[in-house]
Amino acid sequence: MLFRQEKKPFHDLHLHILPDMDDGARDIRMSAGMLQEEIRQGCEGLIATPHYYPTESISEFLTRRQRAYRELEDWIESEIPDWSGRIGLGAEAAYHNGLVCDPDLEKLCMGHSRYLLLEMPFEKWTSGMLRDVRTLIANGIRPIIAHLERFPEYAGEDAIGELLEMDVLIQMNAGALLHRSSHHRAVTMVKNGITQILGTDSHNLDSRCPNMKDGLAVMRKDHLGRQADEILDNNAAIYRAAME
Ligand SMILES: [Fe+2]
Repeated sequence: MLFRQEKKPFHDLHLHILPDMDDGARDIRMSAGMLQEEIRQGCEGLIATPHYYPTESISEFLTRRQRAYRELEDWIESEIPDWSGRIGLGAEAAYHNGLVCDPDLEKLCMGHSRYLLLEMPFEKWTSGMLRDVRTLIANGIRPIIAHLERFPEYAGEDAIGELLEMDVLIQMNAGALLHRSSHHRAVTMVKNGITQILGTDSHNLDSRCPNMKDGLAVMRKDHLGRQADEILDNNAAIYRAAME
């Protein structure tokens, strides 16, 4: 793209980089390639957020996640030791009936923080779902709603309005700013203050590749530089909270 090069470093809080963990990086070679691309674009730290679905227990998920993380850390320690310890662990927790009652739920939060990346369902949102989000907040968890821009067809304006009144943070995928079909909606959301966090949600090196630099460049080109800076600060603060 012919946009101005992004100069500021960034933190990516949503990506599927752990090898052979979910539908993201299929092996260590792809994980390494994604990490190298993130670094090339200016990434200074990231939180790996593999999908969590209730097809397994949280404890089984954490065991698999630790194994995948260890494989990536071993590669980092031998190839780019400067990056050792810069990857935090989280999850993209799929909303389901019963999620909020799981006693292990807080183990899916980002690192040592209470931030939980929550993927709302791709089906009509019900009042029970919104009540569960309220329960999460009452339990001291701060939900980060993953890629809200993908949900209007499912949620409807009323449900989204209700969600936005809660103490949640909204994450947008950088790709939403880049694609013609979603660009207008994404820019409008940023202008209206409905985005606090930008993530790549990258899964691989082609169709869903790391694209933070291009997403930020589009924001600056669209006169959203102030919002881009605020989002980068938010990303950095959450990363720090997770890594403390
Ligand atoms: Fe994701």
